Amino acid sequence: MDYFTFLLFLILISCFPSSSHAQNSDLKLPLRAVNLGNWLVTEGWMKPSRFDGIINKDLLDGTHVQFLSTKLNKYLCAENGGGTLVVANRPSASDWEIFRLWRVNESHFNLRVFNKQFVGLGSGGVEAVSNTPTGSETFQIVRKDDDLSRVRFRASNGLFLQAQSETLVTADYTGSGWDDGDPSVFKMTIVNILEGEFQITNGYGPDRAPQVMQDHWNSYITEEDFNFMSANGLNAVRIPVGWWIAQDPTPPQPFVGGSSKALDNAFTWAEKYGMKVIVDLHAVKASQNGNDHSGSRDGFQEWGDSNIDETVAVIEFLAARYGGRPGLAAIGLMNEPLAPGVTIDALTKYYKAGYDAVRKYTTNAYVILSARLGPADPKELYSLAGSMNRVAIDVHYYNLFSDTFKSMTVQENIDYINNQRASNLGYLISPNGPLVLVGEWTGEFDGDGASMEDYQRYARAQIDVYGDATFGWAYWAYNCDRNHWSLKWMIDNNFIKLQ
Ligand SMILES: *[C@@H]1O[C@H](CO)[C@@H](O)[C@H](O)[C@H]1NC(C)=O
Repeated sequence: MDYFTFLLFLILISCFPSSSHAQNSDLKLPLRAVNLGNWLVTEGWMKPSRFDGIINKDLLDGTHVQFLSTKLNKYLCAENGGGTLVVANRPSASDWEIFRLWRVNESHFNLRVFNKQFVGLGSGGVEAVSNTPTGSETFQIVRKDDDLSRVRFRASNGLFLQAQSETLVTADYTGSGWDDGDPSVFKMTIVNILEGEFQITNGYGPDRAPQVMQDHWNSYITEEDFNFMSANGLNAVRIPVGWWIAQDPTPPQPFVGGSSKALDNAFTWAEKYGMKVIVDLHAVKASQNGNDHSGSRDGFQEWGDSNIDETVAVIEFLAARYGGRPGLAAIGLMNEPLAPGVTIDALTKYYKAGYDAVRKYTTNAYVILSARLGPADPKELYSLAGSMNRVAIDVHYYNLFSDTFKSMTVQENIDYINNQRASNLGYLISPNGPLVLVGEWTGEFDGDGASMEDYQRYARAQIDVYGDATFGWAYWAYNCDRNHWSLKWMIDNNFIKLQ
């Protein structure tokens, strides 16, 4: 080549990341992975005791509560679901009678109604009109010492809420009784709870949460676990992370800094034990599915067009930080977007931009696109994926969470894996299509009283069928209080053998 061609050649090769030779050229597919769930994104059910130190730990952000006036024997209701008065005239409770807590501190709360307004003080009585909670939307919930389900509300004016009549609720009561006939007494029923990262960090509050979270990150997953995983036939981990990691070490409150250090450690340990990492953006700002593990404050699913740029920025942070790591196998752009709330248009726009953000830092890492949960064809992303390189579609298979599985016998569960799941996978796998990842599955199923052998057969069937997934599979989870959900427990107790 002549001098100028040579110069051009030099410029070109210097454009590639200097560590590109160290990137995942040794990636061996399909992966056999496990999810490090409940490590960097909290899911309370996996280790409930972590919440034990929280005062009023049953009144966390997003808790759905109903209030029955003991005097009128009627439920409080945000009339029309919100936008007008709060009344006390409903004999039974459903959507408009549910209030979602926003926790100000251990004793003070905002109450968010069906149409998303907050309960506050208006001139014509208590109303649900304001879209932002201020002082006048803040109530102290006073609980009866020997019956915590009996509550009274002290409003910002220092007076108690009272149900004067079925159509008039005011904040002007000065009495202090707990009798059924007292108009300020309500019976509180908790109908739903959230136990995610927002709940635990805001529950402990800014003074205690940083230490609680740091202790958890240090102990829940350690280097020894990577040693165990690699020695037992696993070659990758899928690590859920939340959007707040991108603002480490000072994420917005109530989130706590330090999760990116923990993720750095995971890469170091994975690389030491010859394993790969899938970083999975599990919790996006505004929530893509309303679940605990989406980082939601109150369970409303609100992710949409206006959140695309900030979510791409999180992917950019991850790609910039880990794009050159030899341990990086893939970045998952969004876990479990839920249809129809997350539209295919918004998701497609985001996936395109997220893909480009990853490609700024690595040409080797795979980009993972999660199929939408809910009413959506799992192949709806295939034309988009066709315009991308090194891309995989993520699907999650649980024989749980639906009536379909409630009445199945053990054998029917196993048959379902061998027939239905195998056929679902066959539909997704195509020679020119994207690779396929079964990014979540578990050994647990609705098989009341199933024996150890039943569990072994059920797990074996899944390992065999999901073994055909071209990108691989990932068990949910590694460490969990519920034994069948813990791959470590399943391996230690001979329920699952991977080698
Ligand atoms: C909780 O917040 C309220 C309202 O801002 C405040 O008056 C109260 O002192 C706080 N209580 C605690 C225990 O921090």
